[in-house]
Amino acid sequence: MEEAVVHVDVDLKVLYFGTPVVLISTVNEDGSANVAPMSSAWWLGQACMLGLGNSSQTMRNLVRERECVLNLVPPELAGAVDLLAPLTGASPVPERKAAKGYRFEADKFGAAGLTPQASESVAAPRVLECPIQLECLVEKVHPFGRNASGVEVRVVRAHVEERLVIPGTAYVDPVGWDPLIMKFCEFFGGAVNVGPSALASAWEMPHGVMPSAAAASG
Ligand SMILES: Cc1cc2nc3c(=O)[nH]c(=O)nc-3n(C[C@H](O)[C@H](O)[C@H](O)COP(=O)(O)O)c2cc1C
Repeated sequence: MEEAVVHVDVDLKVLYFGTPVVLISTVNEDGSANVAPMSSAWWLGQACMLGLGNSSQTMRNLVRERECVLNLVPPELAGAVDLLAPLTGASPVPERKAAKGYRFEADKFGAAGLTPQASESVAAPRVLECPIQLECLVEKVHPFGRNASGVEVRVVRAHVEERLVIPGTAYVDPVGWDPLIMKFCEFFGGAVNVGPSALASAWEMPHGVMPSAAAASG
């Protein structure tokens, strides 16, 4: 006899079911660069909504400068993300962050061993080590949650490592791109394709690069 599936009621402490890690780069008041890990980002068309705490230096920079670069992180950079985790570009360190052990760091690129790369449409630098870099303009800042905001940005320029672009198209190869995923505060990588998707057809994604299609064609 098949065992019944049991769902238990849980007062979940964390609702981070799994989202790609983004390094968001912005420009500080003094013109220097800031870079911070974040993972509350979702996409709709050419827009992205960023969930950000109001006390971060990134938030201040976004409100003042109205621009940023969203650098998508591969699993190999988990170590660099972890080096940035206890750091803030905000000085003095906001009280609640200080209580959690955050430290001020003026050179966060250097602290994480990351290389700034000049952008083309915005002043904030890209992260050279990230294979996908999206230059963005801030459209609107919405109040969201407690002490946080939803920052709506529009992608104005996308830079993608050549090996990740499906040849002759303007699509990222979904098999080639392996995002670092933050799931319940832990890092994951190595995503595999689990089957064909109707959404891919609707978006006219070339199926040819998917392993299943390649195997079917011999
Ligand atoms: C993997 C990871 C994911 C994070 N995701 C978010 C996020 O989605 N939103 C947010 O406000 N902070 C997030 N943080 C925390 C920020 O990185 C942290 O507040 C940092 O101090 C911001 O730097 P800043 O003050 O220099 O802007 C995340 C941190 C890590 C390590």
